[in-house]
This record gives sequence, structure tokens and C-alpha cells, in this order.
Amino acid sequence: MLGKLFLVATTLSIAWSGAVAQTPVPEAVVAVETARRGAPISRNIYGHFAEHLGRGIYGGIWVGPDSRIANIKGYRRDVVEALRQLEVPVIRWPGGCFSEVYDWRDGIGPRAKRPVRTRMHWPDTIDRNDFGTHEFLDFMELIGADAYVSGNVGSMSPRDMQLWFEYMTADNDSTLAQERRKNGRAKPWTIKYFGIGNETWGCGGNMRPDYAADVNARYSAFVDPPASMGLVKVASGASVQGGGDYEAFTEAMMKHLGQTDALSFHYYAMPMGRPKSAGLGFGEAEWADVLDLARQMEPMLSRITAIMDKQDPQKKVPLYVDEWGAWYQPDPASKPGEHHYQQNSLRDAMVAALTFNIFHRHSDRVKMANIAQMVNVLQAVILTEDEKMVLTPTYHLFDLYRPFMDAVPFPASVASPEYIHGELHMPMVDATAARGKDGKLYLAMVNVDPNRAVRVSTLMGSRASGKLLTGPAMDTHNSFAAPDTIRPMPFSGVVKDGRLTFDLPAKSIAVVAVE
Ligand code: AHR
Repeated sequence: MLGKLFLVATTLSIAWSGAVAQTPVPEAVVAVETARRGAPISRNIYGHFAEHLGRGIYGGIWVGPDSRIANIKGYRRDVVEALRQLEVPVIRWPGGCFSEVYDWRDGIGPRAKRPVRTRMHWPDTIDRNDFGTHEFLDFMELIGADAYVSGNVGSMSPRDMQLWFEYMTADNDSTLAQERRKNGRAKPWTIKYFGIGNETWGCGGNMRPDYAADVNARYSAFVDPPASMGLVKVASGASVQGGGDYEAFTEAMMKHLGQTDALSFHYYAMPMGRPKSAGLGFGEAEWADVLDLARQMEPMLSRITAIMDKQDPQKKVPLYVDEWGAWYQPDPASKPGEHHYQQNSLRDAMVAALTFNIFHRHSDRVKMANIAQMVNVLQAVILTEDEKMVLTPTYHLFDLYRPFMDAVPFPASVASPEYIHGELHMPMVDATAARGKDGKLYLAMVNVDPNRAVRVSTLMGSRASGKLLTGPAMDTHNSFAAPDTIRPMPFSGVVKDGRLTFDLPAKSIAVVAVE
């Protein structure tokens, strides 16, 4: 049935943006199996990553209590409010590679007395350590997110890791608990997730797979949470872009997880061995290339899952994709020290939508994901410049997908025409469907074709309304001068010939509640 519907070109015409175009409209059909429930979509796949890199922390989150920029105890008020609206579930901090050179003692005590350090991996920048353990964990409480703290296995000892953990979580009369109280925090913080290192195959210490597994097992033995905390210790896993054999690395880690409960994985939509795309002003070849790179997350996850299944067929060990996103050339306007600042366009919202749809399809294994990164770095949801802030298309996509947090997914198959550009081809329409916590059935549809609208029909429901994200150009974006150029618009479906039907414009993403 679906096969027969594949690639049905019609002479239908559709209207959008106020203009009627008399062009043939391709059709796609979405079939959702509501009788088959998948594992719930963890709300943590909508998590974030915030590293001491560029203006990710300083200027992006933290301006200090004496700043002329509106702030709540030093945190940017506009950013805090935007993150609260997104219901950010979890944030990973302080890195990334930064975590492997971070001494937690640098970031506690009176700010004026904290040391100034060179950021080793981004050497022309320094860190004044104004934002440390207290500032991060208080920020988590301020925005209502869980803390995911990354420990240092590359350049500090297991004892340092143990002492940091004790400083944050001890509720006794130990010297460290008293020091924390003296520094302004009476009760211990709750740490939900603790990372044992970062990219141990690379910036975390250039370790070989078996050695990395041994180091993970050793360090994880010294992080000793109160049982009531329910801490998840995360082993630092492979990356496809790390140069090594990511399958062998995953296998070695899975064979010897020590006292860790979860395994991480990194994948960026970034070409290897050829130039990266520009963030703006790119052509269709780069549009198709970046979307194709984003789609590679799916075969990667399938391979990682197959390896994990060998040791853990019951899928007790969750996979955390704790760095993902599109990685471009730096924005030409970035100033020295603004490492990895890139603009963010409609193409990035597409990357995020395709990636979330993939995570939904792997909800039995993927239980957390952290976009790299939250503010001002790589595929950011928020960009700031002095007192100005813009919400990027990726922010709006996260907002659109909020109903999928903790939702129960259903298999959704799409009989779709292809989008072809040069050698690259992919289904024009990608879709995901799930029953939200509010009991409603949600459907997300992505049309990756930058040139052609598509008519999508489905047999489920008789009414649907929600929001659509699109724009006139592939790189439509919000700038500080025009911060509202792209944002979601109301969108609905209609019944035609007994089927619920959606006219999706070219390069668009829709999320609707179906009744
Ligand atoms: O997100 C930027 C960097 O990319 C991180 O520090 C590192 O973990 C990864 O290689």
C-alpha cells in the first residue's frame, strides 16, 4: 500500500504565504502504528551543553551581579527567562575538553581571589573562574534543570574527583562540607549526572580503548554519592570524528564499565577532511550536505546500539549523545577569542528536527542528548551580543518539540518522494509521532526540500493544529538587528478525500496535535 503511494506526483496546487503557485505538488503519506508503543522519549534528549569556550558562559549566561546588563544575581535575565520557557531538563558543564583541564578548586571561594587560567584548548583565551561550582549549580536551580557535571580524568587524580564530589554533596561535618557552607551554600546540591571524563580517546588524554576503559573503571570507583541521590555516572564514550575506531572504543567501554551506569557518544554534523560550510550565505549543495550529515546520526546509533546490545541485550545501560549539532566555519564577524561562534539559520532547525526524529526512533537506548552548545557556541539556541539576545531557529525548534518530552512514540513510516541534489538523495519528508504527557497525539513533519512544497496525508485523525517553522531562504535567520525574522506560525491540516492532509511549504517543519 505504502509502496504504491510512493512518489505520486500530482497536479495539485497549494497556497501558502499568501501566494498561489500553480506547480505540481508531490505527495507523501504518513502511516502511524498507534497500537505499537515505543519506549518513552526521555525529556533529557532535549538537554544542553554549556562549556567554558568562547562566550558560551561569560557574556552568554554570566555577566556578574554588577553588570549593566539586566541580571538575576549575575545571570542574564533574558537568557534565564528564555531557558525557563524551553523547560530545559539538563545541562552538561564545564566541558567538553575544558573539563579535562579544569581544577574545581579554581572556581570556589570569593571571586576576587580566584585564579586566572589559560584555557588550554583555546589558548588565546583566559578564564577568570568567576563562574564555578556554586554559580553553575545555583543556575541549575534557578532555571529548574538537572545538573550534569563532567569530571577531569585527563589531568587530575581520582582523589581530586572524589573531593569535588564530596564538596558538592556532603551533608556531614567534613572539612569540605564546612568549606562549602562558608562559601555560601548550606545544604548539599543534588547532582543527577556525573561524567567520568570527556573524549578520553582525544583531548581527555589520547587513550587507547582498553586503557580508557580501565581509567573509567578506576575513577568511577571514587565518586561516592549518597544512595538517595540516584546519581548516574556516565562513562566517556566514542566519537565518529575522533580519528580512532569508534566501534572498538564502544566495545571496550561496554566490556568494562566499572561503576558507571551510562555511556556517552559524540557526533557532529560536520564534514571530515573537507571544508566546513559557512553558517550563512551557503548554497543548496551545502544545505543538502549538512542535512545528509545530520541524517548519518541514524546509522551511527544503529551501529553503537548493536555493539551495546552484545553486552547489554536488555538495554539497561542508556546511551547519552552528550554532544551533537551542526559545526560550521566560525562566523566571519566573530572577534578574537569568540571560538566556535556561528550564526544559526532555518537549516539548523532542520538539523535539530531530523536529529530529534532519529532520537525518538531510538528511544529504547538514547536517554539523553545535549546540543552543542546552549549559548553563543556552535549550534546555539541563544545568541547574545552585549545586552542584546536573539532566539535562533534551533531555539524555536526545541520549543516546537516540547510536547515530545516524556511522550510515548509510535512507529511512523513515510512513503515519500525523494529530495535529490547532486549525488545526495534523501526522503523529502521525515516524520515522528507520539502520545504526549497531556494525552494528545502529536505529529511532527519535516520537508527537507528547499524548493518544493509537499502534500502530506495520513489516515489518523480528523483535525490537527499546531505550528510551522519556515522561511523564504535556506539561511533565514534571526539577527540582533532583526531578531524576529523567523519564528513559528500557526498551522493546521484539513480533511481531503477522507484523509487528514497537510500542505507543507518547501524547507519547513510542522508540529501538530491530531484529534
Ligand atoms: O563542543 C566543542 C568541543 O567538541 C568539545 O570541547 C569537545 O568535547 C568536542 O570535541
